[in-house]
Amino acid sequence: MAYKRSIVLIGFSGSGKTRAGYLLAKNIGFCFLDTDLEIEKLTGASVSDIFHVHGEEFFRQAERKVMNGLPASGCVVALGGSAVLNAAEMETVKRNGLVVYLAAGAEKIRANLSGDTTRPLLDKPDKYEAVIRLLAIRAPLYEQYADVRIDTDHLDIPETVREIEKKWRSA
Ligand code: S3P
Repeated sequence: MAYKRSIVLIGFSGSGKTRAGYLLAKNIGFCFLDTDLEIEKLTGASVSDIFHVHGEEFFRQAERKVMNGLPASGCVVALGGSAVLNAAEMETVKRNGLVVYLAAGAEKIRANLSGDTTRPLLDKPDKYEAVIRLLAIRAPLYEQYADVRIDTDHLDIPETVREIEKKWRSA
């Protein structure tokens, strides 16, 4: 029975990992971890500053460190959208938790991220083009690592949480 095993949410920025993860953790009495926040604690800098001052590779190193230290039980974890680029760490994550892909299409992501200025890789004149370009690279990786896939295009956050909980209980 997998009921104490950690639940790890993957998916693109704006797919609702943090909001759903926080609510899910509260509902099932798990702790909640957001890897971006853990990276900020580890480095003492915001994600935006890390990218702008130290660069993407510095961010990836910190992300890998955080991924290697995630608890294998009792936690819901929201992984940053690019965590799936870290192949070795994703294998560790998969061994330690149920990996749930919150799949959202580019339109929903665009709507959720309208006005957002906190994602450096999407901070482009044409944000939608950047979403489509990165999603094309990342979607196969999300699919590859997922134990469970939930299509969130027509779900709000409470509905998404209910779906995750259902899948987790039957996993
Ligand atoms: C990133 C996604 C972000 C954050 C960083 C890089 C990406 O996390 O880790 O800005 O490249 O997709 P969210 O998925 O929480 O936005």
